[in-house]
Amino acid sequence: MKLRKLAKMAIENRIEHSFVIKGKDFGNAGNVSTKIKDLLKEIGIPPSIIRRVAIATYEAEMNVVMYANHGTLNFALTPQKIEIVVDDRGPGIEDIELAMQEGYSTATEEMREMGFGAGMGLPNIKKNSDEFEITSEVNKGTKLRIVIYLDSKNE
Ligand SMILES: Nc1ncnc2c1ncn2[C@@H]1O[C@H](COP(=O)(O)OP(=O)(O)OP(=O)(O)O)[C@@H](O)[C@H]1O
Ligand SMILES: [Mg+2]
Repeated sequence: MKLRKLAKMAIENRIEHSFVIKGKDFGNAGNVSTKIKDLLKEIGIPPSIIRRVAIATYEAEMNVVMYANHGTLNFALTPQKIEIVVDDRGPGIEDIELAMQEGYSTATEEMREMGFGAGMGLPNIKKNSDEFEITSEVNKGTKLRIVIYLDSKNE
């Protein structure tokens, strides 16, 4: 990382990093959320917050791996909150309301054999977030914005 970027982050009291997520890359699936979890542990964020961030980032990362071509996960930590934006290029979601329903899944047989496809990812992201937004454009991609407050009571 560039020294200038580090200095800027120090002055702004902000840690941020952008991660790339490759579609269909099940071998590396989960690595981004593990890295974020390790970082949060290292800097002493409370376990109850880490747990929520880990669930939300893991589910968002897996959805990019399973359904999109590629994506980025932008992570930002300030003294008040953790903000995660996951932006992918892929098929998009036609009916967001349906996709948000517990149990709804278009996972393939192969994905189900790997243990995915319960249709619980998006509902769990929402449940573990203090702020949650999802937007999508068919044939373009999907974007999630997840915010978890560091002082939140939502556990
Ligand atoms: N990034 C995405 N791009 C395209 N479609 C998506 C994306 N994320 C979710 N979807 C669609 O929304 C559905 C519901 O997603 P959700 O994460 O809730 O469940 P799932 O991934 O099918 O199963 P689980 O997360 O429990 O393993 C998916 O089956 C898929 O059709
Ligand atoms: Mg999912």
